[in-house]
Amino acid sequence: MPDQYAVIGNPIGHSMSPRIHTAFAHQTGQNMNYEALLAPVNAFAAGVDAFHRRGGRGLNVTLPFKGEAFRIATRCSKRAVEAQAVNTLRFDGDAIYGENTDGIGLVNDLMLNLGRTITGQSVLLLGAGGAARGAIGPLLDQKPRQLVLANRSLEKARSLAQSFRGAIDACNYAALAGRCFDLVINATSASLSDELPPLPSGVFATGALAYDMMYGKSDTPFLAFARSEGAAVLADGLGMLVEQAAESFFIWRGLRPDTAPVVKLLRQTADD
Ligand code: ATR
Repeated sequence: MPDQYAVIGNPIGHSMSPRIHTAFAHQTGQNMNYEALLAPVNAFAAGVDAFHRRGGRGLNVTLPFKGEAFRIATRCSKRAVEAQAVNTLRFDGDAIYGENTDGIGLVNDLMLNLGRTITGQSVLLLGAGGAARGAIGPLLDQKPRQLVLANRSLEKARSLAQSFRGAIDACNYAALAGRCFDLVINATSASLSDELPPLPSGVFATGALAYDMMYGKSDTPFLAFARSEGAAVLADGLGMLVEQAAESFFIWRGLRPDTAPVVKLLRQTADD
């Protein structure tokens, strides 16, 4: 009988995780199944428990349950504690191990797929919600020259910066006028509502990379803005999605799948 894994969220119908993990399993010859589970918004823990009791080995957790997953894990990684959120659960007998692979997925996409160095670079991270929080630790590990966090609500940016003990600078968008960065990463949810964070002109340094954690068939408003501002490289979050999945797969199976063919596969079908 194959080992059982799943992604749990609400909504879950459009999740690409089953396709990604099925491709990884096929590629690495692992005998496993991976399905999508819809949990009612008020019944996440019951959904996890039911899956665990029917022999499930691990779960990916997506919106809106990443905070709750952090709380039900009996042991968490340093990354998950920093992020206060868990996107990967592994059942070890009765114990539940929680990890957050989103930030390392971003860093791996930037470094391995896009060939960018983060060390010594100036990095601007937009947003101060869960997506930004998860990215900060893995970005800081690469020792950028500076990491600036910009958010509409300055209070929220400051409070997030404080939890990283001053290693990042918090500001609002107006304070970005006259400053430029080598990497600009959009971790806001603005693209979901087809909006552009209120960035001033000139934030992209020569050779800058613009990264949107969201992805879609065409440029998000942020990527369209970056293009019009002359950013040298544009990237959406599809690579991050596949890289975070690869880290989850490693936590469960102890094997690193080759991500490039899976990104290519998803890209081809996204363009259909
Ligand atoms: P997530 O978990 O996806 O990060 P979240 O916790 O709801 O979602 O946070 C959403 C983030 O996107 C916030 O930083 C929010 O900015 P504010 O805190 O100032 O509200 C940001 N955001 C959403 N829409 C935005 C927009 N149109 N322009 C700029 N920032 C936006």
